[in-house]
Amino acid sequence: MKALEVKNICKNFGGLKVLQNVSISVETGERRAIIGPNGAGKTTLFNIISGITTASSGEIFIFGKKVTTLSPYHRARLGLGRTFQKNNLFSDMSLLENIYLAMRINKSPLNMQDFLQQWGMWNRRNIKVKKLSYGEQRQVELLLALAQAPKILLLDEPTAGMSPVEKGLILQMIKGLDRSITILIIEHDMEVVFNLADRITVLHLGQVLCEATPEIVKAKPRVQEIYLGTTGEEGWH
Ligand SMILES: Nc1ncnc2c1ncn2[C@@H]1O[C@H](COP(=O)(O)OP(=O)(O)OP(=O)(O)O)[C@@H](O)[C@H]1O
Ligand SMILES: [Mg+2]
Repeated sequence: MKALEVKNICKNFGGLKVLQNVSISVETGERRAIIGPNGAGKTTLFNIISGITTASSGEIFIFGKKVTTLSPYHRARLGLGRTFQKNNLFSDMSLLENIYLAMRINKSPLNMQDFLQQWGMWNRRNIKVKKLSYGEQRQVELLLALAQAPKILLLDEPTAGMSPVEKGLILQMIKGLDRSITILIIEHDMEVVFNLADRITVLHLGQVLCEATPEIVKAKPRVQEIYLGTTGEEGWH
Protein backbone atom coordinates (compact mmCIF):
# COMPACT_ATOMS: atom_id res chain seq x y z
CA MET A 1 0.00 0.00 0.00
CA LYS A 2 1.12 3.52 -0.71
CA ALA A 3 1.88 5.40 2.50
CA LEU A 4 2.15 8.74 0.75
CA GLU A 5 1.17 10.09 -2.64
CA VAL A 6 2.06 13.57 -3.78
CA LYS A 7 0.24 14.38 -7.01
CA ASN A 8 1.13 17.23 -9.36
CA ILE A 9 2.04 19.65 -6.60
CA CYS A 10 2.83 23.20 -7.71
CA LYS A 11 3.87 25.98 -5.39
CA ASN A 12 4.44 29.60 -6.32
CA PHE A 13 5.71 32.24 -3.93
CA GLY A 14 4.67 35.35 -5.80
CA GLY A 15 6.26 34.99 -9.22
CA LEU A 16 8.71 32.36 -8.00
CA LYS A 17 7.82 28.82 -9.13
CA VAL A 18 9.26 26.80 -6.26
CA LEU A 19 7.62 23.47 -7.10
CA GLN A 20 6.36 22.48 -10.54
CA ASN A 21 4.19 19.41 -10.99
CA VAL A 22 5.94 17.34 -8.35
CA SER A 23 4.58 13.80 -8.05
CA ILE A 24 6.06 11.31 -5.59
CA SER A 25 4.68 7.99 -4.47
CA VAL A 26 6.12 6.18 -1.43
CA GLU A 27 5.34 2.58 -0.41
CA THR A 28 4.62 1.66 3.20
CA GLY A 29 7.89 0.86 4.97
CA GLU A 30 10.03 2.47 2.30
CA ARG A 31 13.05 4.66 3.07
CA ARG A 32 12.98 7.45 0.51
CA ALA A 33 15.66 10.11 0.27
CA ILE A 34 14.88 13.48 -1.29
CA ILE A 35 18.05 15.11 -2.53
CA GLY A 36 18.80 18.22 -4.54
CA PRO A 37 20.78 21.45 -4.43
CA ASN A 38 20.02 24.31 -2.03
CA GLY A 39 16.77 26.02 -2.95
CA ALA A 40 15.50 23.02 -4.96
CA GLY A 41 12.23 23.09 -3.00
CA LYS A 42 12.79 20.13 -0.64
CA THR A 43 11.72 21.82 2.60
CA THR A 44 8.79 23.49 0.83
CA LEU A 45 7.67 20.02 -0.30
CA PHE A 46 7.80 18.73 3.32
CA ASN A 47 5.87 21.82 4.46
CA ILE A 48 3.18 21.07 1.90
CA ILE A 49 3.03 17.37 2.82
CA SER A 50 2.67 18.22 6.51
CA GLY A 51 0.17 21.03 5.88
CA ILE A 52 2.24 23.98 7.13
CA THR A 53 2.22 25.45 3.62
CA THR A 54 -0.70 25.28 1.20
CA ALA A 55 0.08 24.12 -2.33
CA SER A 56 -0.90 26.34 -5.27
CA SER A 57 -2.32 23.19 -6.90
CA GLY A 58 -2.11 19.41 -6.63
CA GLU A 59 -3.16 16.79 -4.08
CA ILE A 60 -1.67 14.91 -1.12
CA PHE A 61 -2.83 11.45 0.01
CA ILE A 62 -1.84 9.66 3.22
CA PHE A 63 -2.66 5.94 3.17
CA GLY A 64 -5.12 6.61 0.36
CA LYS A 65 -6.91 9.41 2.21
CA LYS A 66 -6.93 12.82 0.61
CA VAL A 67 -5.47 15.30 3.11
CA THR A 68 -4.83 18.29 0.81
CA THR A 69 -7.02 20.65 2.83
CA LEU A 70 -6.49 19.12 6.29
CA SER A 71 -4.63 21.01 9.03
CA PRO A 72 -1.14 19.91 10.19
CA TYR A 73 -2.76 18.65 13.40
CA HIS A 74 -5.19 16.40 11.55
CA ARG A 75 -2.40 15.08 9.33
CA ALA A 76 -0.36 14.33 12.46
CA ARG A 77 -3.34 12.44 13.88
CA LEU A 78 -3.32 10.31 10.69
CA GLY A 79 0.26 9.34 11.53
CA LEU A 80 2.40 12.00 9.90
CA GLY A 81 5.40 13.06 11.98
CA ARG A 82 8.28 15.33 11.08
CA THR A 83 11.47 16.99 12.19
CA PHE A 84 12.59 20.42 11.06
CA GLN A 85 15.73 21.62 9.30
CA LYS A 86 16.35 23.88 12.31
CA ASN A 87 15.75 22.71 15.86
CA ASN A 88 12.17 23.17 16.93
CA LEU A 89 12.38 22.46 20.66
CA PHE A 90 11.20 24.17 23.85
CA SER A 91 14.76 24.78 24.94
CA ASP A 92 13.93 26.12 28.43
CA MET A 93 12.00 22.97 29.25
CA SER A 94 13.41 19.61 30.22
CA LEU A 95 13.64 16.66 27.87
CA LEU A 96 10.77 15.02 29.76
CA GLU A 97 8.55 18.10 29.40
CA ASN A 98 9.26 18.27 25.68
CA ILE A 99 8.39 14.59 25.24
CA TYR A 100 5.30 15.01 27.43
CA LEU A 101 4.01 17.84 25.23
CA ALA A 102 4.73 15.95 22.00
CA MET A 103 2.87 12.90 23.31
CA ARG A 104 -0.01 14.95 24.70
CA ILE A 105 -0.64 16.96 21.54
CA ASN A 106 -1.01 13.87 19.43
CA LYS A 107 -2.59 11.63 22.07
CA SER A 108 0.32 9.22 21.72
CA PRO A 109 -0.32 5.67 22.95
CA LEU A 110 3.30 5.33 24.14
CA ASN A 111 4.51 5.28 27.74
CA MET A 112 6.97 8.09 28.42
CA GLN A 113 9.32 6.13 30.67
CA ASP A 114 9.40 3.04 28.43
CA PHE A 115 9.97 5.28 25.45
CA LEU A 116 12.89 7.23 26.92
CA GLN A 117 14.42 4.06 28.35
CA GLN A 118 14.19 2.39 24.97
CA TRP A 119 16.22 5.27 23.50
CA GLY A 120 18.68 5.41 26.41
CA MET A 121 17.59 8.92 27.41
CA TRP A 122 15.67 8.28 30.65
CA ASN A 123 18.63 9.38 32.80
CA ARG A 124 18.77 12.66 30.82
CA ARG A 125 15.07 13.39 31.32
CA ASN A 126 15.38 16.32 33.76
CA ILE A 127 18.01 18.23 31.83
CA LYS A 128 16.87 21.40 30.11
CA VAL A 129 17.06 20.89 26.38
CA LYS A 130 19.25 23.98 25.92
CA LYS A 131 21.89 22.35 28.16
CA LEU A 132 22.17 19.36 25.85
CA SER A 133 24.82 19.32 23.13
CA TYR A 134 23.77 20.27 19.59
CA GLY A 135 23.96 16.61 18.55
CA GLU A 136 21.76 15.56 21.47
CA GLN A 137 19.25 18.31 20.66
CA ARG A 138 18.91 16.95 17.14
CA GLN A 139 18.47 13.50 18.64
CA VAL A 140 15.74 14.91 20.88
CA GLU A 141 14.01 16.41 17.88
CA LEU A 142 13.90 12.96 16.31
CA LEU A 143 12.60 11.55 19.60
CA LEU A 144 9.82 14.17 19.69
CA ALA A 145 8.67 13.03 16.28
CA LEU A 146 8.90 9.37 17.33
CA ALA A 147 7.06 10.06 20.60
CA GLN A 148 3.97 10.73 18.50
CA ALA A 149 4.15 7.13 17.21
CA PRO A 150 4.15 8.24 13.56
CA LYS A 151 3.44 5.93 10.63
CA ILE A 152 5.17 8.28 8.20
CA LEU A 153 8.21 10.27 9.28
CA LEU A 154 9.56 13.28 7.39
CA LEU A 155 13.16 14.07 8.37
CA ASP A 156 14.58 17.38 7.13
CA GLU A 157 18.38 17.20 7.22
CA PRO A 158 18.60 15.33 10.52
CA THR A 159 22.41 15.19 10.42
CA ALA A 160 23.05 18.82 9.39
CA GLY A 161 25.91 20.42 11.30
CA MET A 162 26.81 17.27 13.20
CA SER A 163 30.19 15.76 13.93
CA PRO A 164 30.89 12.36 12.33
CA VAL A 165 30.24 10.63 15.67
CA GLU A 166 26.90 12.42 16.19
CA LYS A 167 25.99 11.65 12.58
CA GLY A 168 26.71 7.98 13.19
CA LEU A 169 24.39 7.97 16.22
CA ILE A 170 21.47 9.56 14.38
CA LEU A 171 21.99 7.25 11.42
CA GLN A 172 21.93 4.26 13.77
CA MET A 173 18.69 5.52 15.35
CA ILE A 174 17.04 5.95 11.95
CA LYS A 175 18.29 2.62 10.64
CA GLY A 176 16.96 0.89 13.76
CA LEU A 177 13.40 2.12 13.25
CA ASP A 178 10.77 -0.48 12.54
CA ARG A 179 9.74 -0.94 8.91
CA SER A 180 6.16 -0.21 9.92
CA ILE A 181 7.33 3.42 9.83
CA THR A 182 7.72 4.90 6.35
CA ILE A 183 10.56 7.41 6.16
CA LEU A 184 11.22 10.33 3.85
CA ILE A 185 14.55 11.99 4.49
CA ILE A 186 15.98 15.18 3.03
CA GLU A 187 19.73 14.87 3.31
CA HIS A 188 22.80 16.45 1.79
CA ASP A 189 25.26 13.89 3.17
CA MET A 190 25.52 11.32 0.39
CA GLU A 191 27.00 8.70 2.72
CA VAL A 192 23.86 8.90 4.86
CA VAL A 193 21.64 8.84 1.77
CA PHE A 194 23.27 5.81 0.18
CA ASN A 195 23.38 4.03 3.52
CA LEU A 196 19.71 4.47 4.20
CA ALA A 197 17.59 4.93 1.11
CA ASP A 198 15.71 2.26 -0.83
CA ARG A 199 14.97 4.85 -3.48
CA ILE A 200 16.07 8.40 -4.13
CA THR A 201 14.09 11.28 -5.61
CA VAL A 202 16.23 14.06 -7.05
CA LEU A 203 14.61 17.49 -6.96
CA HIS A 204 16.13 20.21 -9.09
CA LEU A 205 14.71 23.70 -9.61
CA GLY A 206 11.38 22.57 -8.21
CA GLN A 207 10.99 19.56 -10.47
CA VAL A 208 11.63 15.84 -10.08
CA LEU A 209 14.78 15.26 -12.10
CA CYS A 210 14.79 11.51 -11.51
CA GLU A 211 13.67 8.83 -9.12
CA ALA A 212 15.44 5.48 -8.82
CA THR A 213 17.54 3.19 -6.63
CA PRO A 214 20.75 4.66 -5.14
CA GLU A 215 22.92 2.75 -7.65
CA ILE A 216 21.06 4.13 -10.65
CA VAL A 217 20.88 7.69 -9.28
CA LYS A 218 24.60 7.64 -8.51
CA ALA A 219 25.40 6.67 -12.09
CA LYS A 220 23.28 9.37 -13.78
CA PRO A 221 25.50 11.91 -15.53
CA ARG A 222 22.98 14.76 -15.00
CA VAL A 223 22.94 14.06 -11.24
CA GLN A 224 26.74 13.97 -11.19
CA GLU A 225 26.85 17.29 -13.04
CA ILE A 226 24.63 18.96 -10.45
CA TYR A 227 26.27 17.09 -7.61
CA LEU A 228 29.74 18.15 -8.67
CA GLY A 229 28.54 21.63 -9.52
CA THR A 230 30.07 21.45 -12.99
CA THR A 231 27.08 23.28 -14.48
CA GLY A 232 27.86 26.44 -12.54
CA GLU A 233 24.54 26.14 -10.72
CA GLU A 234 24.43 26.32 -6.96
CA GLY A 235 25.83 23.09 -5.57
CA TRP A 236 25.28 20.99 -2.47
CA HIS A 237 26.40 21.95 0.98
N1 LIG B 1 7.89 31.48 2.56
C1 LIG B 1 8.59 31.72 1.44
N2 LIG B 1 8.42 32.84 0.72
C2 LIG B 1 9.11 33.09 -0.41
N3 LIG B 1 10.01 32.23 -0.94
C3 LIG B 1 10.24 31.09 -0.26
C4 LIG B 1 9.55 30.76 0.95
N4 LIG B 1 9.97 29.55 1.39
C5 LIG B 1 10.89 29.13 0.50
N5 LIG B 1 11.06 30.07 -0.48
C6 LIG B 1 11.96 29.93 -1.65
O1 LIG B 1 11.67 28.71 -2.27
C7 LIG B 1 12.85 28.09 -2.77
C8 LIG B 1 12.98 26.70 -2.21
O2 LIG B 1 13.24 26.77 -0.82
P1 LIG B 1 13.36 25.47 0.08
O3 LIG B 1 13.63 25.94 1.47
O4 LIG B 1 12.17 24.60 -0.14
O5 LIG B 1 14.65 24.77 -0.56
P2 LIG B 1 15.48 23.50 -0.04
O6 LIG B 1 15.56 22.57 -1.20
O7 LIG B 1 14.91 22.99 1.23
O8 LIG B 1 16.92 24.16 0.19
P3 LIG B 1 18.05 23.84 1.32
O9 LIG B 1 18.81 22.63 0.80
O10 LIG B 1 18.92 25.05 1.30
O11 LIG B 1 17.37 23.62 2.62
C9 LIG B 1 14.00 29.03 -2.39
O12 LIG B 1 14.28 29.84 -3.50
C10 LIG B 1 13.43 29.83 -1.25
O13 LIG B 1 14.02 31.10 -1.17
MG1 LIG C 1 15.61 22.84 3.15
